[in-house]
Amino acid sequence: MRQSHTPLANWVAQVFQQEFSVDPLLVASPGRVNLIGEHTDYNHGFVLPAAVDKAAYVALAPSNLPLGKWISLDMEASIEVNFEAIAPVSESWANYLLGIIDQVQKSGKSVKPFNCVFAGDVPIGSGMSSSAALESAVIFALNQMNDLGLSRWEMAQLAQRSENEFIGVKCGIMDMFASLHGKANQVIRLDCRDLSFEYFPLELGDYRIVLFDTGVKHSLADSAYNTRRQQCETGVHFFQQHFGPHLQSLRDVSVTMVQACRSLLPAEVYNRCLYVTEEIQRTLSACDELQKGDLAAFGLKMYATHEGLRHLYEVSCAELDSLVDATQNESQVLGARMMGGGFGGCTINIVHNDAVEDLFEKLRLAYLKEMNQHLTMYKVVTGEGARVLA
Ligand code: GLA
Repeated sequence: MRQSHTPLANWVAQVFQQEFSVDPLLVASPGRVNLIGEHTDYNHGFVLPAAVDKAAYVALAPSNLPLGKWISLDMEASIEVNFEAIAPVSESWANYLLGIIDQVQKSGKSVKPFNCVFAGDVPIGSGMSSSAALESAVIFALNQMNDLGLSRWEMAQLAQRSENEFIGVKCGIMDMFASLHGKANQVIRLDCRDLSFEYFPLELGDYRIVLFDTGVKHSLADSAYNTRRQQCETGVHFFQQHFGPHLQSLRDVSVTMVQACRSLLPAEVYNRCLYVTEEIQRTLSACDELQKGDLAAFGLKMYATHEGLRHLYEVSCAELDSLVDATQNESQVLGARMMGGGFGGCTINIVHNDAVEDLFEKLRLAYLKEMNQHLTMYKVVTGEGARVLA
C-alpha cells in the first residue's frame, strides 16, 4: 500500500485494502471557510471562500458485480448499492454519493459499479461544508475512474445539482466550488454570476482566522435556507415587473432600488433583498480592503454582515449571536460573524495571534454559562482543493 498524506487518509485506504483486497483510488476534497459574501452565491453575487486542511477522504475501486459495498467509517455503517436502480435511501450519508451518480447518469454518462470506503475530519454541522467536501471527493474520484472528462467547474456544477435535486437543499455553488478549486494560502474571490474567479494570498500579518463552533445545528436550517432562496426569487420577480426583465437576479438590483420600493414590498422580502444587495456591495469593498491589507476595515465589514444576517436575513440564532457579541469589546478581535447557511455552525473571527488562547477560554466559559453548551475552536489553516492521493 502506498503511503498517503494524513493518518485519516491512510486509515481509509487500509480499511479498503482489508475489505476488498485491492489498492483503491484515494481522493481528498476539503471543507471551506468563507471570509465574507454570505447568501450571495445563489443571488449571483460575490463570495470569498478558502479551502481548509480538513477534508473528506474517499477510497474506491470498481466492483465486478452490478452491486457495490459502501462503508462510512464516520457513521460506522455500510450499505449495498444496486447500480441498476439508483434511488434515495434512508441512510442519509449514502445519498450524497447516490446523488452524484444520479447526476452523472442524467448527463448521459455511465458510472461503473464501485466499492468504497470513506471518512472525513470536516466537522459535521459546523458550516464548513462537510457534505460538499464528500460530494466533491466523490465526483472527483468518479471523474478519474470513469474517464468522464469533466473540468473542475463542471464537477462543481454537477455536485451542486445533486445537492439541489437529490438531497433537496437549494444551495448555491460556493461550497463545491471552493472544495474543488481551493489552494493553500489563497482565498478565492468568485463572481457567482459569470463564474469568473481570482485567487489572492491570505495575508493576515499578526492576525489569524479562528472559528468558534456553537456545537448546534437547528433542525430548521435546510427548510429555512430554501425559504430564503424563494424570498429572493420573489424579490427578483417584483423588480422584473417594475424595472424590466433584464434584471436576472438581485445582483442586477441596487440598494437604492430596494430602498425606493420599500412600501411596495412585503416586509420580509424587502429585508431579504436589502441584505443581499448590501452584502454584494460590502463583499466587493471588503475584498479591496483585504487586498490593501486594511484588516481593521475588513473586520468591520464582517460585523456589518453579521448584523444583516441577524436582523434582515434572519438566519442567525441565539448561540451565534452570543459568540459574536462576546467579541465586540475585545480589542484583539478585528471582525466576527456567523459563517455559512446559519442556524448554528461556526462564527468566523479575525483575532490577534497572541490573544487566541485567552479569547477562547473567555468565550468558552461565557458560552457554557449563557448557553449551557460546549464551545470548540478551530484555528483555520488553508489547504489544497480536491486531489488524488494515491
Ligand atoms: C450554505 C450553502 C452555500 C451558501 C451558504 C451561505 O453553505 O451551501 O451555497 O449559500 O450557505 O452563504
